Amino acid sequence: ASYDMGGHDTYMHKEICEQPDAVDRVLRGRIDDRFSTVHLGGLNLDAREARTIRRIKILGCGTSYHAGLIGAGLIESMARIPADAEPASEFRYRNPVVDPDTLYIAVSQSGETYDVLAAVQELKRKGARVLGVVNVVGSAIAREADGGVYVHAGPEVCVVSTKCFTNTVTAFALLALHLGRIRDLSVTDGKRIIEGLRKLPSQIEEILKTEEQIKEIAAEYAGAQSMMFIGRVRGYPVALEASLKLKEISYIHAEAYPASELKHGPLALIEPALPTIAIVPDDDLLEKNRAALEEIKARSGRILAVAHQPQAKADHTIVVPKNEDELDPILMGIPLQLLAYHTALAMGRDIDKPRNLAKSVTVE
Ligand code: G6P
Repeated sequence: ASYDMGGHDTYMHKEICEQPDAVDRVLRGRIDDRFSTVHLGGLNLDAREARTIRRIKILGCGTSYHAGLIGAGLIESMARIPADAEPASEFRYRNPVVDPDTLYIAVSQSGETYDVLAAVQELKRKGARVLGVVNVVGSAIAREADGGVYVHAGPEVCVVSTKCFTNTVTAFALLALHLGRIRDLSVTDGKRIIEGLRKLPSQIEEILKTEEQIKEIAAEYAGAQSMMFIGRVRGYPVALEASLKLKEISYIHAEAYPASELKHGPLALIEPALPTIAIVPDDDLLEKNRAALEEIKARSGRILAVAHQPQAKADHTIVVPKNEDELDPILMGIPLQLLAYHTALAMGRDIDKPRNLAKSVTVE
């Protein structure tokens, strides 16, 4: 790649640090304060059409699939449209029921991932409406889609995605707000979300200042054989993405589970040698999440919490700034990008080019 590393040792580090500016870019020019809504010029979906959507199905691979899972949650909570995300590769091969009242959304950083492109083509062939949430302008998926939202993360060189993930989730928040304000989201709630969105860049800036603390924690975890990531509802896709990031660049085995499912199996794994990384936002599930930490502590498991306030049961807490409940997942993933980074660095891994992986998989 020919982009300047700008004084960073790796592209990944550069791209993590670029996130305040990247998020600023995805928001810029799109917020309409007069109606507490957003303007998305390329959507190609008028209000009357938007009101007829009965379901939303989001398709992507890898990190983009995880961004889609958070996106589905944002759409359900703000627009109250049933939404879910599925790996594009799975969707394509299960002969899915393609329903005219469903809006399909393809998510891709590169816009070239073959499994996603093929899913879009199959959907279009069946007459479905497909939008793209894509980073690379003019890419194959962007061209094939009926419309969409560019995420404006800028060029991403490191094989694993960081800033594009954050921008994609932020783009989904804009789309959810847009659909919500066409449907049942009040002006007041719209305003609340807009204020939250505007706080993101400076809050990310604050999180990046915790890097030294995260580096020290990473040094402790670098020898682990395996790690467990847990979260609930909005926090679960954050856990999935954090565990993927760790696997991709450190080659440490990691699992992500909904905290609520611990008791149905994975609790058997908990022992001092298996650290747990827990997403513990200060929301309506705080007490439930704390109960999970207690369960783990009772089995002598080590715990790192990513939370809005220090957690008594955790060995370490990375405290992140609070935003609106809906937008918290955008912030809670960021310290875990740094955790994966510093863990991999401590293990001497080739961070920008992990073994066996490619930036985009353009073949079957
Ligand atoms: C590859 C990369 C992943 C990426 C996935 C989807 O597997 O290694 O980091 O998340 O493709 O890429 P896309 O460009 O479609 O977002």
